[in-house]
Amino acid sequence: MEYTNKIVTGDCLTVMRTISDNSVDVTFADPPFNLKKKYNGYIDSKDMEEYLHWCQQWIEEMVRITKPTGSILVHNIPRWLTYYASFLNYVANFRHWISWSAPTSPMGKSLQPAHYGILFYAKDMKQNKCYELRSPHKRDRKSKYLSKDYGGKKAALHPYGPLVTDVWTDIHRIKHNKYRDKHPCQLPIHLLERLILMTTDEGDTVLDPFMGTGTTAVAAKRLGRNYIGIELDPMYVEIIKNKLSQETSNSKLGDAWVSIFLKKIVTLRNIDWDIIEPYYIIPEDHKQVDFIEIKLNSSNSAHSPQPLDLSETSLF
Ligand SMILES: C[S@@+](CC[C@H](N)C(=O)[O-])C[C@H]1O[C@@H](n2cnc3c(N)ncnc32)[C@H](O)[C@@H]1O
Repeated sequence: MEYTNKIVTGDCLTVMRTISDNSVDVTFADPPFNLKKKYNGYIDSKDMEEYLHWCQQWIEEMVRITKPTGSILVHNIPRWLTYYASFLNYVANFRHWISWSAPTSPMGKSLQPAHYGILFYAKDMKQNKCYELRSPHKRDRKSKYLSKDYGGKKAALHPYGPLVTDVWTDIHRIKHNKYRDKHPCQLPIHLLERLILMTTDEGDTVLDPFMGTGTTAVAAKRLGRNYIGIELDPMYVEIIKNKLSQETSNSKLGDAWVSIFLKKIVTLRNIDWDIIEPYYIIPEDHKQVDFIEIKLNSSNSAHSPQPLDLSETSLF
């Protein structure tokens, strides 16, 4: 396709209207939230009716261009997602409302918003591609024991971690300025990597109509997927292109694509566990996983067909 692995500078509606029906594997959108955020050029304060009418148009375009096997993912605050769901329910199939926890100051008011939502719709429920994922066990910071009490079921513990649910508390917003680009709403790369591992295969194409700083494209490239990015602001497009020129498709352990953050695997696909398991030192008695965190063993060449090199992965 004309736009494969390109970042297009322009209006997403105009560009998406030039893309054929059923031609992209996954569409992901993180639009402006209409909360008066200070972007470089875009004015984030539309009248509510105008904002929602505009959202309905690009959502319908996303659905139209997504393949029958594909997924439509939209990130926003719950307030706007309630409207998005009402548009999407007519043109696609609801799969999940993922709650991405984003804790705020404990000194704030009661019921202060502390999560974002990601709507996950299938273009066609019967054909939809969706892989089960695992994330590492959560542990007490000091004792290192598992936070969850597995009671008498400890022998059945998965050594790496549980299946991912629809509440994501283990991925944090980017807090430090040194890890951010000059943009008010940059998402963490491993959030997008989780979504991409869940809904695509190697070589699939992910389109993001609001590319911002290029998080979706970077995640797609690291995971051996193709991307199509659209962004209105040429200054952000410059940032994206610079970042992409430094990325390689190497977020892998053996033959398995994985999401890495701070030199740890933070998401893997359940079907890849057999490939990944030999890279870890795992206690024979799985009950010990309750207090021993399994570690990657890159030196065990007998079990490691390819040495693991996490050094090139940027740490944010
Ligand atoms: C919430 S940000 C996306 C941030 C992105 N997910 C990231 O991680 O960097 C929304 C982006 O949409 C862009 N934008 C606003 N209106 C647009 C339009 N009509 N077409 C394309 N991009 C647009 C803004 O310039 C802004 O960078």
